[in-house]
Amino acid sequence: MASNESIKKVLTVAVSLCLVCSVVVSSAAVLLRDAQEANKARDMKRNILAAAGLLEKGATVEEQFENVETRVIDFETGTFTEAVDPAKYEQRKAAKAPGTSEALTAEEDIADIQRQEEYGLVYLVYEGDELSKVILPIRGYGLWSTLYGFLALEADLNTVAGIGFYEHGETPGLGGEVDNPLWKAKWEGKKVYDEDFADPALSVIKGQVEPGAPRARYRVDGLSGATLTTRGVDNIIQFWLGERGYSEFLSNLRQGEA
Ligand SMILES: Cc1cc2nc3c(=O)[nH]c(=O)nc-3n(C[C@H](O)[C@H](O)[C@H](O)COP(=O)(O)O)c2cc1C
Repeated sequence: MASNESIKKVLTVAVSLCLVCSVVVSSAAVLLRDAQEANKARDMKRNILAAAGLLEKGATVEEQFENVETRVIDFETGTFTEAVDPAKYEQRKAAKAPGTSEALTAEEDIADIQRQEEYGLVYLVYEGDELSKVILPIRGYGLWSTLYGFLALEADLNTVAGIGFYEHGETPGLGGEVDNPLWKAKWEGKKVYDEDFADPALSVIKGQVEPGAPRARYRVDGLSGATLTTRGVDNIIQFWLGERGYSEFLSNLRQGEA
């Protein structure tokens, strides 16, 4: 009788084990793909709601997202477009591909994003039939990484309802303080544009905003010890609220012409 340690038996056991394991792992990957996609989509909805301060306990993310309409805009015209399906559009992928995005010149690329996609997702929040908030994807480079997040505006399209970054690689305790709820709370109620709704008036400064300062309503405190991330966030605001970003769209929406 061959010993259990014969080369043939050892190899048979090893190969069978490999086969069984690879079948288990690949089946799990295939079977769980839909669940993973659904979790990813739910997580993004949670980030969108959280940035606007709309995330509440006691209701599911899906239930809370029922009041949110996802639309696509054309950045060049600042109008809604049906060119792509908002449910399927992958904006971050589109921003990297030459066919769906455009390289920015150094002068244009204030937020250091290299390329800008032709179309962008926007999220319109309704209370009944009334528009109550608009949530806009934003991104740009900080010190170590690209920060991805959302800026939410109230229905006047000029008052900040909230901000949140859902992905970045800044240092915890320094640039990572972009996630600090106390800092995020400082954004609420700040104004984005001057009365003429031209260039963005909102900016993130180095240091603290003097409460009585004439332009205090357009200013947000910088992060202490993280001037470079602070500058990055300010650049993000200047780019995305500027003419290559959402200013044309917001102006059209304000006039009911988006
Ligand atoms: C390990 C390490 C990590 C840092 N991470 C950040 C960061 O995430 N964001 C940032 O703005 N500055 C970061 N800094 C600090 C910057 O190098 C720079 O000193 C700082 O932005 C200056 O800010 P201040 O003028 O407010 O002191 C880091 C420094 C070190 C040594």
